[in-house]
Amino acid sequence: MKFRTRSIHVGNPCDPATGAVVPPIHVASTYVQHAAGEWREFDYGRSGNPTRKALEQTIASLENGRHALAFATGMAATHCVTMLLQQGDHLVAGADIYGGTYRLLHKILNRSGVHVTLANSRDPEELEQALRPETRLVWLESPGNPLMSITDLAACVDVAKRHGVMTAVDNTFATPVLTRPLDLGVDIVMHSATKYLGGHSDVLGGVLVVNQDDLYDRLYFAQNATGAVLGPFDAFLVARGLKTLAIRVLEQCRSAAKVAEFLAADRRVTRVLYPGLPTHPGHEIAARQMDGGFGAMLSFEVAGDFEKAKRVVQATELFQLAVSLGAVESLIEQPASMSHASYDAADRQRHGIGDGLIRISVGLEDVDDLIRDLDQALDA
Ligand SMILES: Cc1ncc(COP(=O)(O)O)c(C=O)c1O
Repeated sequence: MKFRTRSIHVGNPCDPATGAVVPPIHVASTYVQHAAGEWREFDYGRSGNPTRKALEQTIASLENGRHALAFATGMAATHCVTMLLQQGDHLVAGADIYGGTYRLLHKILNRSGVHVTLANSRDPEELEQALRPETRLVWLESPGNPLMSITDLAACVDVAKRHGVMTAVDNTFATPVLTRPLDLGVDIVMHSATKYLGGHSDVLGGVLVVNQDDLYDRLYFAQNATGAVLGPFDAFLVARGLKTLAIRVLEQCRSAAKVAEFLAADRRVTRVLYPGLPTHPGHEIAARQMDGGFGAMLSFEVAGDFEKAKRVVQATELFQLAVSLGAVESLIEQPASMSHASYDAADRQRHGIGDGLIRISVGLEDVDDLIRDLDQALDA
């Protein structure tokens, strides 16, 4: 079955009891056991829930994976991966990653004695230089956040495998519509389902997808032991969002490409970071690694400083000033004061996350209206 068919039919059998074409939402927190200690697929809602399981089947299929685990948020999913590490281990992460991931790695994980290095993953050689004998995990995002840097995932997997190091990719920006990291040899795919998978800014969720049974068992054990599972109502909302994922993402990519062209031609804009532009340093790799589009996230810089960028993000009328991304409505934000405020200022500067940077998430509004909105806001 092709992607769009799977997004609608895998994990969505009609209800045998009633014939309902949408399976019911299972709300029970516990399940009757016919004999004490008897094994049943469902015994307690934290350990398993049919609505959550159905969603896990759909997302596993879309990522070409064998197993998925759904969490209360994207950060809970990322945290679960870090629970595979222990004191003395070392983790290498790409330099422009989600600010919340940076905070988890540098301000929580470090308390367990795990050491973290940020490396420029655009260059697999730089990534390799950052590896140590005790490195256990490489954490990547492509496109990166907020600089839209492109990492050659297959090349980085190659480096990591040579050193016996596991790889994980936050695939939130690309979605499985555009990139399927497991096919490139990545061990763990993570999503903030809050973004494109849900797609309507009305649910928080996170997902991990893997192919290896033993890795799934270790992650499931950590999830069940710590408990940050996705609730059944939220699982239903994400599953509903998945049914339109491909058409939303592809249309949003088309609009983002037009917005990027508009910004690139505008004198008030000094730099546009969008992998679909031939001038983007990662364009060729993105063209190989992403199918059907270059994503619907882009960043740009305006002539001026922090204050000018702040005025622009406050002057848009359709683009709403908010963190988050991936939904039907377009959003705008200033990473230095919003999504990446939790980076140490020195790390922001070192990795090029400037004060004048503006990040937008292109939604499903008519692109002409979006361009008109940015045009008027650039005069602020
Ligand atoms: C790329 C990326 N990864 C992870 C997260 C964390 O997800 P959540 O907010 O669902 O915990 C976010 C949230 O903004 C994100 O943008």
